[in-house]
Amino acid sequence: MNGAILDLAVAIPHHYVSHKELAQARGVEADKYHRGLGCDEMAICGPGEDTVTLAAEAAWRLFEHNPEARERIGLCIVGTESGVDAAKPVAIYVHRLLGLPANCRAFEIKHACYGATAALQMASSWVQQHPKRLALVIASDIARYERGSAGEPTQGAGAVAMLVGKADERDALLQLSPISGAFANDVYDFWRPPYQSEALVKGKYSMNCYLEGLQGAYEDYCRQAGDEPTPDYLLYHVPFPAMARKAHRRMSDLRGLSDELYYEDLESRVEPALWANRKVGNVYSGSLYLALAGLCERKGTRLIGRRLALFSYGSGSCSEYFTGRFGEGVHRYHRHLQHLLDTRTEVDVDQYELLHDASLKMERNNSFQSALPHQGQAFTFLGIRDHERCYRQNFAEDAVALIPARPTILNNTRPFQRA
Ligand code: CAA
Repeated sequence: MNGAILDLAVAIPHHYVSHKELAQARGVEADKYHRGLGCDEMAICGPGEDTVTLAAEAAWRLFEHNPEARERIGLCIVGTESGVDAAKPVAIYVHRLLGLPANCRAFEIKHACYGATAALQMASSWVQQHPKRLALVIASDIARYERGSAGEPTQGAGAVAMLVGKADERDALLQLSPISGAFANDVYDFWRPPYQSEALVKGKYSMNCYLEGLQGAYEDYCRQAGDEPTPDYLLYHVPFPAMARKAHRRMSDLRGLSDELYYEDLESRVEPALWANRKVGNVYSGSLYLALAGLCERKGTRLIGRRLALFSYGSGSCSEYFTGRFGEGVHRYHRHLQHLLDTRTEVDVDQYELLHDASLKMERNNSFQSALPHQGQAFTFLGIRDHERCYRQNFAEDAVALIPARPTILNNTRPFQRA
C-alpha cells in the first residue's frame, strides 16, 4: 500500500485585487482575464507575508484540527520555487515556528511548480518505512511577474499543508496509488535566475510545454496501469484556470472523446475544483493542491470512494500524472477556504503596487520593523536584521499549545519556547 494524504489546510495572503480593476488599469478588456484566463481575483502579499509565513500558517491550521499529529512528524518538506535563501530551507523556519520534534528531517525541494508533488511522493514512500510517524508536506509560493507584462494577471500566492501517513483506504482522505507516470524534458519555458525577483517566461511556449508534459506523463501512466475506468475527478496544475481547461481538452483528445463529452466532463469532473484558484491566482507548487482543497470544500463527504487523477507540471520541466481514491478521512477536512477568502481585504491597483513594492523591500538586509501589524496572520515576517530573517508568532487564544503565550520575535539565536 502507498501513503495517504490524511488531511490538508490552506493559507492565503490577506489582500487581493480584482481582475476587473486590474484590467481597467492595464487597458485590457475584463473578459480577457475573466473568460480568457478564467481569473477573477488575485492574492497579494503584504510586507509581513512571505513564503515562510504562508507555509507556517497553513501547517498551523492543519495542527489546529489535528493537534496530536504534531509530535509524530518525522519529515517536513516544503516544495517551493520562491524560497527565501539559497542555502537555508523554508522547512527549517517552519520547523521552528511550529515547534516540530527535533528528530525530524526538514528540507526544501525545488523544481518549479512540481516541487510539492516530488515532496508528496517522497513522503508517501517514507511513511512505509516509518508507519508510526507522519510527514508534513507543504507547497508554498509567491507567483510574481513583471508589472504590466502578459504574466501579471496570473500572479497569486498561498500555501497548502498536507499531513501524509500510512493509512488504510477507510482512514485516508486520499489514498495514493503506487502507479504514477512521469515525463522530464529540459526546456526554457519559465525560469527565475538568482538575480531576478520576478520570473521570466515564454508564455505561449510554456503552455505547449505543459501540454507536452501532460501527454508524456499520462502515456507513461497508461503503459503501467493499462485500461482503467475514467477517474471521477481530474485535477490539473492551475497556473490560471483556463489552462486546466486546455489540459482537459488535450486529455479528452488522448482518450478519443467527442466534443460533447469533453464539455460534459469539463463541467462535472474538472470545474468543481477550480473555484478557489479563480480567486487566489497561481500558487505555483501549491496550485494543484489548492484545487484539491477546493474540491474537498465543495464536495465534502460525497467524495468518499471516488477516484481522483492529478497532473502536476513544473516548468523546466518535470511532469507527473498520478491517481488516488478518497476515503473516510474526508470527514477530517475542516472547511475553511471560503472563510479565508471572505475575510480578505480588497485593495485597488495603486495599493496592490505599493504592497508589491513594500514586499520586495523587505527582502533587503536591515529591513527589520518590529512594529509590523499582523492583520490576523498567525505569523508575521518582520524583515531581515544582520542578514537573519525575523518572524513573530502572533498570539491567538485558540491557537493550541504551539504558540507561546506572548508574541515572540524569533531570530536564529534564541531558542523556541514551547508553551
Ligand atoms: N474576451 C474573451 N477572451 C479573450 C478576450 C476577450 N476580450 N481577449 C483575449 N481573450 C482570450 C484569448 O483568445 C486567449 O484564449 P485562448 O488561449 O483560448 O485562445 C486568452 O484570452 C488569453 O489571451 P492571450 O493569449 O492574448 O493572452 P496573453 O498572450 O496576453 O497571455 C499567457 C496569456 C501567455 C498565459 C500569460 O498570461 C502568461 O505568460 N502567463 C504566465 C505563464 C503561464 O502561466 N504559463 C502556463 C504554462 S507554464 C506553467 O504552468 C508553470 C507555471 O505555473 C507558471
